[in-house]
Amino acid sequence: VTRLRGVTVWFTGLSGAGKSTISAALEDRLRERGLPVELLDGDVVREKLNKGLGFSKEDRDVNIRRIGFVADLLTRHGVIVLVAAISPYRSVRDEVRATIGRFVEVHVRASLDTLMERDVKGLYRKALAGEISNFTGISDPYEEPLAPELIIDTDRGQSVELSVARVLDVLEDTGHIPAAAEAVA
Ligand SMILES: Nc1ncnc2c1ncn2[C@@H]1O[C@H](COP(=O)(O)OP(=O)(O)OP(=O)(O)O)[C@@H](O)[C@H]1O
Ligand SMILES: [Mg+2]
Repeated sequence: VTRLRGVTVWFTGLSGAGKSTISAALEDRLRERGLPVELLDGDVVREKLNKGLGFSKEDRDVNIRRIGFVADLLTRHGVIVLVAAISPYRSVRDEVRATIGRFVEVHVRASLDTLMERDVKGLYRKALAGEISNFTGISDPYEEPLAPELIIDTDRGQSVELSVARVLDVLEDTGHIPAAAEAVA
């Protein structure tokens, strides 16, 4: 039996794009396969580990570096770490990628029109009304990944299940997790 080596799957993208939805569903699939998995969701991390941090470039970078630090520790111990955080700045994403090494970047993407229509948390309305400043995609930058391992467009009728399946395929194809048939055997 080969020892699991761990990997960090990093979901980046605008608010409402689908990072939490896809990563939570992926977490369930991986658990069903008996694989060790931890989800670091941006909202949870900002409430626990990073309470008090704001949304300036500096605080956002601290947020991502701390998430990256924890993800690195877990990855080294064979865990499949799912990170779901906007992580708008390319340089700090690339920094944690370099540190962790075993890293799969997934750009979860939807048009601003779709995101404003979804407005799951009501934040786009507030940002557009000027009630929230530093809102990514409206009044703060989002730097797209230049070479993500996977891009998932969630505004073209693709189901969450299919999105999850595409991530699983990448993880299997790159040898980060055993193929499904193997895992069941
Ligand atoms: N293929 C899809 N994949 C993921 N989400 C989808 C898809 N199609 C529609 N959605 C919907 O899009 C919304 C995504 O919200 P979600 O909370 O996952 O976004 P997020 O990227 O985690 O945002 P935030 O950065 O604010 O936490 C949900 O309401 C979800 O049901
Ligand atoms: Mg989320």
